[in-house]
Amino acid sequence: MLPARTPALLAALAFAAASWSCEEAGGADPLDDLTMFDQAVASFERAPLAHLPTPFEEMAALSAEVGGPRLFVKRDDQTGLAFGGNKARKLDFILADALARGSQSVVTWAGVQSNWARMTAAGSRRLGMTPILVLQRGEHQSVSPADGNLLLDRLLGAELHLLEPGEDRDAVVEEVTKAEQAAGRNPYVVSVGGSRTGGSMDRPLGAVAYANAFRELLGQARAEGVGITHLVHASGSGSTQAGLVVGARALAPEVEIIGISSGGSKEAGERNVLAIARETAEAMGLDLTIDPEHVTVLDDYVGEGYGILNEAVVEAITLTARTEGILLDPVYTGKAMGGLLALVRDGRFSPTDAVVFLHTGGTPALFPYREGLLEGLPTDGP
Ligand SMILES: Cc1ncc(COP(=O)(O)O)c(C=O)c1O
Repeated sequence: MLPARTPALLAALAFAAASWSCEEAGGADPLDDLTMFDQAVASFERAPLAHLPTPFEEMAALSAEVGGPRLFVKRDDQTGLAFGGNKARKLDFILADALARGSQSVVTWAGVQSNWARMTAAGSRRLGMTPILVLQRGEHQSVSPADGNLLLDRLLGAELHLLEPGEDRDAVVEEVTKAEQAAGRNPYVVSVGGSRTGGSMDRPLGAVAYANAFRELLGQARAEGVGITHLVHASGSGSTQAGLVVGARALAPEVEIIGISSGGSKEAGERNVLAIARETAEAMGLDLTIDPEHVTVLDDYVGEGYGILNEAVVEAITLTARTEGILLDPVYTGKAMGGLLALVRDGRFSPTDAVVFLHTGGTPALFPYREGLLEGLPTDGP
């Protein structure tokens, strides 16, 4: 079952910590930040889907190639659920909530080549629930029914509702939800990316997962004597970044979190991330100040739009593959790495900085982009 409301639990913990330190006059410290943080996370139900911790490694060859600061990678593409990616961490929390509510099916929506949809399908199957995916084709997107994530959705046996651009997605979501309710399956309805509350998810569980990911990363970096200065990653529906911001505000406010937009504007992205981050701190019972200045989303590297390949993306993918043997994806992480390389070349970092790139996965989308990738392949260099 779900635990009692988290804020109440945390308020109680904070109270216990405060009274303990008062009683032990001149004695021990109150619960430290990490302990408080871990207790906050532990108060949420989890289903063990993600393989954790994910590796944290230095990318010395890439750094040497671009003459940058020390570059590291946090391999959340290696979370282990049906080709991995950032959604596995989120689904640990979200699908545990679905199970706790007695749901037998999970309803969500996204684009046709969605990593979120593929991983929701895998996680639902693993936990014995039926995945129902409402997937909409983008304006300039041609769709092969047997490629990339859509092929994997089919292998996972997801119930698919494929929509053309302009079709009323919300109406279809409502219709399939009602049909599931009528069949007595108590569907769990969750929005794209597991980011915004609404539907069945009344707490920002995706972002809670990423607050905890920051804590995991911090532990690994500290164990290796690395003082992270920046964390760069792809930002889309916003809960990955919101969680990272909460983690940083709580545990290492010196770390600057830089989200590279995969498609939306800076303003819309920052507004969205800020709202989710504040909601997350509250849901975790953490007394944090999160201001607009703590949220940075850059839209300078979007190019022509979401999911549209450009030269910088192909360069980022090939350079990372050829220096580090690491594969990025064309929609999110290729764009984010393109942004990171541009920031390095623009002198945004100092030589003593330690910059972490969070690899959020998405590699099944390499295959539907095969033609554009081959066309852009460099013929020289590493
Ligand atoms: C591979 C990959 N990276 C990054 C993101 C962005 O994460 P978020 O939606 O939490 O902002 C997504 C979201 O779909 C993704 O699939």
